[in-house]
Amino acid sequence: MNWYKVGELTDHNKPFIKKVKAGGKSVCLVGYEGRIYALSATCPHAGAELSGGWCREGKIICPFHRYSYNLQTGKGDPGQHDYVDTYPVEIREDGVYVGIASFGDKWREMFG
Ligand code: FES
Repeated sequence: MNWYKVGELTDHNKPFIKKVKAGGKSVCLVGYEGRIYALSATCPHAGAELSGGWCREGKIICPFHRYSYNLQTGKGDPGQHDYVDTYPVEIREDGVYVGIASFGDKWREMFG
């Protein structure tokens, strides 16, 4: 797992949604109810930018067709049959970091 700094420390209680880069990957960073979440930047339904959406009841809502995805698990609402990738977030002394699994990490996960 490689960790990438994606922002400075801010007031975590302020809600926000923004697109950031972490190791060449586009990530949607969300501050919601005092926690920070990191998800795929792109909606799997038809490719909208999730950072243009909004949050409600622990989910991010896509601005195009209003599909919703759980901020913690990435799981789509029942009936959508889809999900977005989620990434771990760490708050460190010098900023906010997002962890991106390398190819080697994924390989080890699959084949031990
Ligand atoms: S593109 Fe996101 S719901 Fe359709």
